[in-house]
Amino acid sequence: MRQLFPSYVRVPLVFFTIFGIIEFFIDSGNEPAFLKYPIIMLFLALVFLIIIAIEAIVSALENVMYQSLDEAAKERYIAAKNRPLKFTWLNNAYKKLVGTKPMEKEQELILDHNYDGIKELDNDLPPWWLYGFYASIIFGAIYLVKYHVFDGDTQYDELESEYAQAKIELEEYKKTAKDLVDFNTVTFLSDAADLAKGKTIYEENCVACHKSDGGGGIGPNLTDNHWILGGGIKNVFKTINDGGRDGKGMVAWSKNGLKPSEIAQVASYVLTLQDITPAEPKEAEGDVWVDENVTSDNN
Ligand code: HEC
Repeated sequence: MRQLFPSYVRVPLVFFTIFGIIEFFIDSGNEPAFLKYPIIMLFLALVFLIIIAIEAIVSALENVMYQSLDEAAKERYIAAKNRPLKFTWLNNAYKKLVGTKPMEKEQELILDHNYDGIKELDNDLPPWWLYGFYASIIFGAIYLVKYHVFDGDTQYDELESEYAQAKIELEEYKKTAKDLVDFNTVTFLSDAADLAKGKTIYEENCVACHKSDGGGGIGPNLTDNHWILGGGIKNVFKTINDGGRDGKGMVAWSKNGLKPSEIAQVASYVLTLQDITPAEPKEAEGDVWVDENVTSDNN
């Protein structure tokens, strides 16, 4: 029996193939499956043992069989086993594609002109070239019909449709990836769940300085329409994200444990405080905020 690989290659090869298949098919998140489910480690250990056992059994069988052969058969067996691998079909295919005639047949090809001793052989075109040529004719015909008769998409059209598709996918992605919001994309979140979340965040982080009703203390009153750092969702988002002026005490919450999505939620919640009349309002600071971009039916 001729063997493609020695057993010290074969055993790891089979083992890691099985290992790879397991990792591919078992969904284990970021961890490798064998770490997440220790039972898989046990299974792999068994697999390993079984592969080694099979190797041992096969070689024992081979040995027994070998011993039962007569001398001539033994020799033939050894010869067959040691015969190096030859890729005969590859060789043949190569010869066929190159298509050269052997030197001995040169006489049949020689043309009857002779320039200063230089002779010409009438070789056939090499088949690899000829097949390539036919293939290019077929390609050309299909190309002509598709792009010049039926006006197929040019590269620019394809680019444009890919852009359009990518834009749609990006929009989809942004909807699911809420933490991508920033100053430029943030919008007021009117969803009750978002506002409730914003309220929780506010109560956990902001009441110490702004009071639970937004009336203000260390921080300014958030219920009036005066803003020091600008009103509207974008500015409020920015203030919470980047913090207030230096030394005033309002930190950049993006660096203090709030995710962009959470800042958008709490910023939206802060804007809902506008309707509240707080128990002890701090006097207004800053300017009345008018949003030039917003029409009167919006606030
Ligand atoms: C340590 C006290 C403190 C905490 C806690 C605090 N703030 Fe402030 N906040 C301030 C101060 C002080 C200012 C004024 C900053 C300035 O003048 O530059 C301010 C300003 C603001 C402004 C801008 C007000 C305006 O008039 O422009 C908003 C909005 C705001 N805070 C929201 C929040 C939110 C939301 C939280 C919780 C995540 C929070 N703050 C937590 C002290 C605080």
